This record gives sequence, C-alpha cells and structure tokens, in this order.
Amino acid sequence: MWAGSLARIGRKPPKLVVVGSNPTPPATISGGELVFRFDIHAYHFVAVSNSNIFQQSSLYNIFEELIMIEGVKVTKYFGGLKALNEVDFYVDNKEIVGIIGPNGAGKTTLFNTISGFYRPDSGKIIFEGRDITRLKPYNIFRLGIARTFQIPRPFLKMSVIENVQVGIHARKRYISRAEANREALRWLEFVGLHEKKNFVANQLTHTERRKLELARTLASEPKIILLDEIVAGLNPTEVVEMTKKIETIWKDYRIAIIWVEHVMRAIMSVCHRIIVLHQGSKIAEGPPTLIGRDKKVIEAYLGESYA
Ligand SMILES: Nc1ncnc2c1ncn2[C@@H]1O[C@H](COP(=O)(O)OP(=O)(O)OP(=O)(O)O)[C@@H](O)[C@H]1O
Ligand SMILES: [Mg+2]
Repeated sequence: MWAGSLARIGRKPPKLVVVGSNPTPPATISGGELVFRFDIHAYHFVAVSNSNIFQQSSLYNIFEELIMIEGVKVTKYFGGLKALNEVDFYVDNKEIVGIIGPNGAGKTTLFNTISGFYRPDSGKIIFEGRDITRLKPYNIFRLGIARTFQIPRPFLKMSVIENVQVGIHARKRYISRAEANREALRWLEFVGLHEKKNFVANQLTHTERRKLELARTLASEPKIILLDEIVAGLNPTEVVEMTKKIETIWKDYRIAIIWVEHVMRAIMSVCHRIIVLHQGSKIAEGPPTLIGRDKKVIEAYLGESYA
C-alpha cells in the first residue's frame, strides 16, 4: 500500500529504503536521498539495506532519526469494555498529529496510557527507542512527555505563576528561584496570562485555566506534548488564538504535539496527520484533506455536512 508520503531527508543519505508489505512492492535500493514512508496500517515492514532484506516490527529501528514515539497494538480494557483495540500510532520528531473520534472513542484513554496513568493490557509504547510501557507517570514526564487534561487541573490555591513554577521544578531539579521565576513569566507571556501572574488560580476563568495548563506544560520543557481538548469551550476568536499558539509551539519551539480535539476547524488546520479512533479502534489515518473525505470517518464521526 503506497498511501504514505514521500519524505525528503536532507541531512544525510538514507541508510535504508523502506517499503510496506501490504502488498509488498518490488524491493529496490536507492542511493539517492529519498526515503519512502508508508501507510502505518501495514503491520509488517520490509527494510532494504545493502541488498539485505529483513523484517522489522518496530518502526523506531528503521526510522531512528525520525520517530519520537510509537505505540504498537496498544490495548486497554475497562472490565468487559475494550477502550483501546490494538491501536498502532507513531509521531515523528517535530510533528503535529491530531486524534479525532466520537465521545468514548478512546482518545483520553490513549493519552492516559501513553503518560503512564493507565497500563495497557497488551501492546507497548516506545519513546526514543526505549520501552516506556511500564514506567510510572512521573518517570514518563521526566523523559519529556507532558500533557494537558481534558478538565484543567491547576493547583487552585496557588498563584498563577507558582502553578507554572511547579512545571519547571518537576523536570529541573537544580534551578534557582530567580531563574524559575523568569522562565515561568516567559511562558505566561507566551500564553497571554502574565498580567494575572499573582492571581490565585481559582480566580481564573475557564479559558484562562486552559492557558495556564498550557503554560505549565510548556514550562517543563517537554519533547512532546499531549493536548486533550485544549480549545473546548473557547469562543471562536479564542480558538483561533490558541490554534496559532499551538502552531508556534511546533514551529518555533520544535516540540512535537499530539492533539485530541472535537473542534474540527482548529485541528484540521494545523495537524500534519490525523488519526481517527472509533470504539477503541483506529479506523483511519492520513492528512486532514483525505480524512475529511474518508467515508468511514464521515459515517462514524464527521457527518455528511462536513464533506
Ligand atoms: N477509568 C475508567 N473506567 C471505566 N471506563 C472508562 C474509564 N475511562 C474511560 N472509560 C470508558 O472508556 C471509553 C473511552 O473513554 P475515553 O475517555 O478515552 O473517550 P474519549 O475518546 O476521550 O471521549 P471524549 O471525546 O468524550 O472525551 C468510554 O466508553 C469510557 O466510558
Ligand atoms: Mg476524552
């Protein structure tokens, strides 16, 4: 299946040319600079290098320099309910991937599983080549995977700036008070909350709490952030504003992003790739333009009016 895109790797010639096996196209070795990326729906991969053909089950082994995080057949049950059903996913370094799907599709469960709040019943999660499936949330966070919550959870009795400082101290043990203060202020300015730095968090509006959540997350200097419905409940102007910030996080700060959202105009406008979950299973994956026209996705989630 040659549905994947063609990625140009400018820095060095590829070590491998990778082809999907579904069905397997003729294997060729290329001396040039082009590497084929294939549709992730193919579960088996064939990598060709110096005439040797070998099978790989982990994408990371193939795309060492590209893949940041990868989930392999991630499955999670709640009693008899299969909340995640063998979900495969990956995120390149410096990529914004969107996850959409109806209520109860398993989106938040996937985030909880990546960040260590839940342990999958089977499958694994690999971050920068390391299996993190069994790590505790705090250790996963220390590696550079930070998240926001669908319902913001600020420390309500602490000031706004103290909330952000918590994010900083959580990852950097040795940082002076003054430096932490400067850093926190920098992120509050970024999200547009600096004028309220001394407010107590419970005085913030819903929108401001979302901004604080983002500032706290960014302050931990993550490599990847998981955003769970960060624009839910915002008005249209605020949605545009927040969407721009998310794009800046990727563009200027080079942080990879997985973004779960129901607000289609937001997520479809900035994500490079969209994964669609439905009843715990991945039913589609691809660029926003194709996902918007995908019959299965329209039927399960977007509705006819979207297309
Ligand atoms: N801790 C839990 N215990 C039992 N069932 C749960 C738990 N968390 C989630 N579920 C169930 O798992 C399924 C997936 O829930 P999840 O919260 O991941 O959906 P979601 O895609 O994030 O939905 P939404 O768009 O409404 O946020 C749902 O049927 C939900 O009721
Ligand atoms: Mg959710």
